Amino acid sequence: MRLMEYAAKGYEVPRMDMIKTPEQIAGIREAGRLNTEVLDAVEKAIHTGMTTDEIDQIVYHYTVDHGGIPACLNYEGFPKSVCTSVNDVICHGIPDPKQVLKSGDIVNVDATTIYKGYVGDASRMFMIGNVSAERKNLVGVTRECLHRGMLAARGWVNTLGDIGAAIQAFAHKHGYSVVREFGGHGVGLSMHEDPFVSHVGRRGTGMLLVPGMVITIEPMINQGHPDLYIDSLDEWTVRTVDGKASAQWEHTLLITEGEPEILSC
Ligand code: MF3
Ligand code: CO
Ligand code: CO
Repeated sequence: MRLMEYAAKGYEVPRMDMIKTPEQIAGIREAGRLNTEVLDAVEKAIHTGMTTDEIDQIVYHYTVDHGGIPACLNYEGFPKSVCTSVNDVICHGIPDPKQVLKSGDIVNVDATTIYKGYVGDASRMFMIGNVSAERKNLVGVTRECLHRGMLAARGWVNTLGDIGAAIQAFAHKHGYSVVREFGGHGVGLSMHEDPFVSHVGRRGTGMLLVPGMVITIEPMINQGHPDLYIDSLDEWTVRTVDGKASAQWEHTLLITEGEPEILSC
């Protein structure tokens, strides 16, 4: 079959279990749709003066009321149903009843939903009140980084390195840096599956993308230096070392012969 021909040509090809069956894809599509609705519910309600814990409550209740399970809750000890990452927090921020959103904040809300055994994963940025032009630009460029990554993710054409190269080039062109320690991932039957999807890379390197793979692309783009640390108090919150802002957008994507199909956004 086609996979073996590419392997014989020297491509690194995905394992068979990284290619989903039509039945699995249908299930992931449903889980992805519910996950998108969860973020829509957050988008409707988010406002200045709200706490990040209130975002968590919206995610928990919307998910459970619609027959889903918030995948983050108790995942490796994570205490909440969603990640809320404000300003210099790169990812894995923990919702907190004492954390009030104020004008000028940028916040990433990252939801992962299990529905009928399948998983969807996506995140969006929200701008609270009056956000500076610099931060608005960071959020916009990061969104475009995800889009550029998607355009470099055609099955039988691109490799994982093409996704990273496209994102890295666009971020650097705008004077931003790309987080390397965290990346996208296979998803669908569980939250984190192979392969790791780096947001930096070299064109033509790494695993060939094949229709039927389901992956996330979720670039974390920093205004300043790429260096990060994990908060020692909660052992989850990932922050920029220089204290400058970071942004992230994430979709769950089905690799096809053309542009990837968005399964959750
Ligand atoms: N949603 C995240 C991702 O994009 C992972 C969540 S970490 C958790 O991979 F601890 F909150 F579950
Ligand atoms: Co996510
Ligand atoms: Co993810």
